[in-house]
Amino acid sequence: MQMTKNFILAAVLMTSGAVIAAQAQAHDKAQPKAHPIPSIVQQDGRYALMVDGAPYLMLSMQTNNSSDWPATLPQVWPAAEALHVNTVETPIYWEQFEPKPGQFDTTQIDTVLNQARAHHIHLVLLWFGTWKNGSQHYMPDWMKLEPEKYSHVINKRGEPVDSPSPFAQASLDADIHAFTAFMKHLKTADPERTVLMVQVENETGTWGTLRDYSPEAEKLFAASVPADVLKAMNVSPGSRSANWQDVFGTEAEVNFHAWAIARYVGQIAAAGKAIYPLPLYVNAALRDPIKPGAPGSYESGGPTDNVLNIWKAEAPSIDILAPDIYNNDATAYLKILDLYHRPDNALFVPETSSSAATARFFFSALGRQAIGYSPFGLDYTRTPAPQPGAAGAQDSFLQPTAQNYQLIGPMMRDIARLNFEGKLQAVAEEPGTATQTLHFGDWDAFVTYGAGRGAAPRQSAEPTGRALVAQLAENQFLVTGMNAHVDFRPAGTEQQRRSQQIETGTGQTPSALIDGKWIHRQFLKVEEGSYENGSFKFRRILNGDQTDYGLNFSSAPQVLRVSVATY
Ligand code: DGJ
Repeated sequence: MQMTKNFILAAVLMTSGAVIAAQAQAHDKAQPKAHPIPSIVQQDGRYALMVDGAPYLMLSMQTNNSSDWPATLPQVWPAAEALHVNTVETPIYWEQFEPKPGQFDTTQIDTVLNQARAHHIHLVLLWFGTWKNGSQHYMPDWMKLEPEKYSHVINKRGEPVDSPSPFAQASLDADIHAFTAFMKHLKTADPERTVLMVQVENETGTWGTLRDYSPEAEKLFAASVPADVLKAMNVSPGSRSANWQDVFGTEAEVNFHAWAIARYVGQIAAAGKAIYPLPLYVNAALRDPIKPGAPGSYESGGPTDNVLNIWKAEAPSIDILAPDIYNNDATAYLKILDLYHRPDNALFVPETSSSAATARFFFSALGRQAIGYSPFGLDYTRTPAPQPGAAGAQDSFLQPTAQNYQLIGPMMRDIARLNFEGKLQAVAEEPGTATQTLHFGDWDAFVTYGAGRGAAPRQSAEPTGRALVAQLAENQFLVTGMNAHVDFRPAGTEQQRRSQQIETGTGQTPSALIDGKWIHRQFLKVEEGSYENGSFKFRRILNGDQTDYGLNFSSAPQVLRVSVATY
């Protein structure tokens, strides 16, 4: 490689352009380091967010809705630091950005960019435009004062509701105008690529009515379903002229509203991306993943799991459809992760509860190759920041997220890369399961909860366990976790019986019966260390009581590099 570079350089210097080439080189040296635009890449069905040319994991938090003001940003950064985040998600308000038609005020964008850089934190900016939680509350006042022009959804009774119409051409034009101005500004104001992604709108959809019943919407609802929607939903209509009701029955209105909103948002995203091709995503207020209620029991028209295909077809400039997860139930939480982790959709959790009860699901998201994770509302605008130097009870609401990020933060680049390469698995404790097995070629890693020396695995009353295992080489693994026990055994058909003994704490080495012979696991070396500047730094070798019964993780951050062998 070096030879090729030198050869090219020599060739350039030998030509008549030698002086120009030398000048260009000198000029390049004077330029600050160029940062490529962040992008989402896919390989073998796995995704990565590329930042500065390598996979990146967003360890993020989202600010409260009204925190992105010069007056309140000082209450954001101390929380971000206490959380060990590398990214902050925060809104850009249309009403602030375009106070008068066509006049754009970039002070808020510039302020948050500058302050984030000063704290070495990346940003995901949330465009609070036409939709915010299904309503048009962030439209500038000059739009709110003209409801006929920037119209609302009309319900079945012919009344306007608190939600913008996806058929309002004037609103769409105005949103495209403002969003492209925002992206144009970002393109010039952010050569450092502080901003990694942009969320287009917020929790689109409508509460209280299934769709728009305005005359224009009625006409379209009675017309044939467009061919791309039929294809996306994998249905063949009974006849070519089949309308929405004929084709989709009870789901017709929700599908129609999703189609209308996805088309609207898709046009905004395409216009913004044409100016500055940052990764774009939309977030969803979810429907119940286990027992989805009938249409009307959830926000209609947003990217809920039943209409993801419609959104993919109508808004191709949107890279990711992302779930806002406020469900504490393990089965529901994991099902949501599965619904949004698809071959055509990278998993990203842009909002989730920050509770101690759900913090372990960060590992479940990592186990599904999540490119980012972001608990909501973690700034000091509602809870005062502790005085400098004081370890404060005020911080307790940050603790569950801080614990995760403190552990994973220093090795974030390795985690993102190993995940992209398909070498990483991660799990969290689930009710009803005290043991989980992760398969890695010749080795199985087994994770147990509540186990220990002389104690069989058992379900915890309040599960908090989590574990992550990544294969570094054929017989070497990176292992970390919290409140969990991890061990390895050779992959074989009859390994269960003897492994059971280690799981019950009797001290028997995990073994497998392979081709009629018992093959036993031995630890070659269990190295404890920490990540510094992106590399594992050895601290000590664990042995004796620390490994004779497998590897035990408490709530204190601990990272192990484990080499295994057989005898
Ligand atoms: C979901 C929304 O997307 C957020 O902006 C926020 O309103 C939370 N719900 C709840 O506080």
